[in-house]
Parts: sequence; structure tokens; C-alpha cells
Amino acid sequence: TYIIAEPCVDVLDKACIEECPVDCIYEGNRMLYIHPDECVDCGACEPVCPVEAIFYEDDVPDQWKNYTSANYGFFEELGSPGGASKVGKIDKDDPFVAGQPPRGE
Ligand code: F3S
Ligand code: F3S
Repeated sequence: TYIIAEPCVDVLDKACIEECPVDCIYEGNRMLYIHPDECVDCGACEPVCPVEAIFYEDDVPDQWKNYTSANYGFFEELGSPGGASKVGKIDKDDPFVAGQPPRGE
């Protein structure tokens, strides 16, 4: 799976959503999360993020490893909805992300 990391927090550019052929990028309050079971590893989202927040799971920089857990953890209660657009914005964040200080410009 691909993982969205810290640069997305409080940015939520959403360019990535347009590229995903399986609609597996879900919107939380402070960032977007890739569904680890629904992602087909196509790589289409990674180059379009203007802040370079998206990484293949094995390539997530060490300082952002907690975001790997956050992308998985976000879906623990949600299960596998099978498409982000029909779910819409989800009023939550992974606890690690919720605890991050605000990221301004
Ligand atoms: Fe976030 Fe980048 Fe997508 S900022 S919403 S991962 S395009
Ligand atoms: Fe979707 Fe492909 Fe990225 S399946 S999350 S666009 S790697």
C-alpha cells in the first residue's frame, strides 16, 4: 500500500483523489488516509501531491513512520467501505494525527 504522511496534515490538497483508480483515499479532519487493503499499489497518486506527502509503504521516511500506523489505524473501525466518494468526509483522525500541533503556512 501507499501511505500519506505528515506533509498532508492541515494541507489536504486533494489532488491525489483525482488520480486514484479505486477511490481508496479517504478524507479525515486534518489529512487524507489511504486504505491499506483497498489500495492496488498503482502509484498514480504519489507524483501529483504538491507537498510530496505520499510514499510507498516501504519508503516512508523514518521520521514519519507513525503515519504508516495512522493510515492503517484510521480504518480500524471503518472496515473496508469500498470507495471514498460515497463515504464523504469522515469526522475523525487517527489519534496520532489528532495530537499533532497545527501546521500553518
Ligand atoms: Fe494530502 Fe497531498 Fe493528497 S496534500 S490530500 S496527500 S495531494
Ligand atoms: Fe490509489 Fe494507486 Fe495511490 S490505488 S492510493 S492511486 S497507489
